[in-house]
Amino acid sequence: MTNTATQRPIYPFGDQPFALGMEDYQVDCAIHTDDLEQAIRGQWREQGLVVLKNTGMQHLSELQRWAEVLFQDFAAYEGGSAPRDKFGKHVFALGDAPPTIDLCFHNEGCYLPVYPRCFVIGSTRCPQEGGFTLLADNEKATQALLATDIGQKLKDKGMRYVRMMYDRELACELGYKPWQDTFFTNDPREAEQSVQAKGWDYEWLPNGHLRTSYSVDAYEYHPELDKSLFFAGLASHAAFFDQWHPFNAMPDEERPLNMTLGDGTPFTNQEIADIYAAYNHASLALDWKQADLALLDNLRWAHARPAFTLQAGEERVLGVAMGMMTERVGNRF
Ligand SMILES: [Fe+2]
Repeated sequence: MTNTATQRPIYPFGDQPFALGMEDYQVDCAIHTDDLEQAIRGQWREQGLVVLKNTGMQHLSELQRWAEVLFQDFAAYEGGSAPRDKFGKHVFALGDAPPTIDLCFHNEGCYLPVYPRCFVIGSTRCPQEGGFTLLADNEKATQALLATDIGQKLKDKGMRYVRMMYDRELACELGYKPWQDTFFTNDPREAEQSVQAKGWDYEWLPNGHLRTSYSVDAYEYHPELDKSLFFAGLASHAAFFDQWHPFNAMPDEERPLNMTLGDGTPFTNQEIADIYAAYNHASLALDWKQADLALLDNLRWAHARPAFTLQAGEERVLGVAMGMMTERVGNRF
């Protein structure tokens, strides 16, 4: 058992100059009045990231309309690991981890056999300082990671995602989503069917908790780039909970999420630090202003949210819509 009551060395976010600038990815809606959709699609193909300024967005339900410039098939949030509230039919709230906790770099849905290729995120209220979203250029991060021992081990062994889905009573006590809410049922057989549909292995524990595991390639082929990119994230590692009471008093195996190499070997602290370093090597900050939104290729860009503090009267309200659903094909090295 791996017991880590103290916080592991996590590279802090945002304490170094960002390698990339947000302005290089911006499309200004005030300028592209006639050819806006064309500009969005072009920028998406070129860079996999479109930061839209001056959208005039009043409500986060409008994210759906912007997402529809790129895709029509929206993801449902069923099976997600944390609580979500809806803003609209296909728009969900962000805010799934306490603001005092660094939400580590990850690709959305990396633990699923079908994942959203496109991820649209927008803000209607944001603090004066902090509260930004970090993005990492995954092409550059993958190149840096593959130059490390852990990058090569991940290439050989793949990744295993283990989730501990607590039964309702303990989940309420801990302040985490129970399996009943994840699968919208109180019937264990219905929950099992949902788990099987995702291709996950599972076991029921004597205390009524459901433990699932999923082994998959750590890199995923990007057809347009003709490259395999790291498709994972440290938000799925138990170290993510090192700052989060009461989970930080539990062994890794009992925390809501844990991630190992595909053969079950735990990551060393140095290996975790090496993965962070690969992401931080090519990051930029989405420093939200009201009505900004970003459309990103979830395979080409990893995202993270550093801890933040709100001043009196401030709020941080973000929504997300995901789609362009894509089956995992694994790596093509
Ligand atoms: Fe995310």
